[in-house]
Amino acid sequence: MQALNGALEQLGNPSSVHGHGQNTRAILEDARDQVAHAVGANRSEIVFTSGGTEANNQAIKGIYWAQNRKNKARKVIVTAATEHHALLDPIDWLVEHEGAEVINVAVGSSGMLDLEDLEQILSSRSEEIALVSLMWVNNETGVITDIVRVTELAKRYGIPVHSDAIAAIGHVPVDFAESGLTAMSISGHKVGAPIGVGALVVARDFSPVSLLHGGGQERGLRSGTMNYPLATSLGAACQEAVSDRVERQSRLKQLRDLIETEIVRAIPSAVVTARDTDRVDHNAHLIFPGTQSDNLLFLLDQEGVSVSAGSACQAGVLGASHVLVAMGHPEELASACLRITLGHTTTASDAERFIEAIIKIHPGALVASQSTQSAN
Ligand SMILES: Cc1ncc(COP(=O)(O)O)c(C=O)c1O
Repeated sequence: MQALNGALEQLGNPSSVHGHGQNTRAILEDARDQVAHAVGANRSEIVFTSGGTEANNQAIKGIYWAQNRKNKARKVIVTAATEHHALLDPIDWLVEHEGAEVINVAVGSSGMLDLEDLEQILSSRSEEIALVSLMWVNNETGVITDIVRVTELAKRYGIPVHSDAIAAIGHVPVDFAESGLTAMSISGHKVGAPIGVGALVVARDFSPVSLLHGGGQERGLRSGTMNYPLATSLGAACQEAVSDRVERQSRLKQLRDLIETEIVRAIPSAVVTARDTDRVDHNAHLIFPGTQSDNLLFLLDQEGVSVSAGSACQAGVLGASHVLVAMGHPEELASACLRITLGHTTTASDAERFIEAIIKIHPGALVASQSTQSAN
């Protein structure tokens, strides 16, 4: 906030040559350095965007078009059904309008991607694949994908890889240079910046086709006068999110483990999703058989507790979580879940209050015909 407020006091188009423009250009470029430093990228690889959705759209469509222009046969996009809709929907658009084909990597019941399946897809369709896009951390279950392994496999065939790293930054070590990725998406509000800013990190040796055309700012990938106040808040937030990551995650892991243990003790039918899988420490995801997510959310809200079910972006149209369905859960259980995200301000008393609230409201959230299915 401090960075944002300071920048809002400065006026000037960062592309102008006058002094005011040079001042705001300096603010923008400092922000670029901060983001680059936080995610192990070169400063020239940071393209500021309006958020994660734009970054994902630019990556998917831009890389697809660039690959397709070089070789018309490259029409296949390899991804997974557990991705966020901000990624799945641009891919669907390419299928509908540009004749793209999607191949989904198999997902296990634990939420882990089957990288042997990826290997098989890559070797059998290598000449037709335009790109691979797999998220670093799943925003619902918190499951982590071994992105370095993914890029190692794709590199054998010279196939570019994009990753939606929005749920990863500040929670797992992210180093763009070491990852082998061609592009990576970041969203500001997931790292503590205001809503409406993000970035696409694009390797220097790759030129995606731009979605926007105009003044040619941001390597020609994001025409339009640059939003230096939001960029500077993204820079500050990224820096902060990575600087205390280790200490914060270990504190939040204790609270997360407490929440899971106490809930399962008090509500034995509750099941922790992806419990034994490699997952981030600040995220708890549970299925409450016999309930509906929107009932749980409503009753918890009345207790003053804010949590989500699927993606918050879709919470207005709550249905079964497509992520849980992709993991093989029946719709009934995929619409009976809660995602609890702990942040740097979450305290032990917040965790205790949440545990009390869920135990209190759970009986009221049970729907008339209780599920007899097992969530395991
Ligand atoms: C994993 C993931 N990808 C993409 C998005 C969309 O990002 P934005 O809301 O910045 O457009 C979100 C939203 O939070 C997300 O969690």
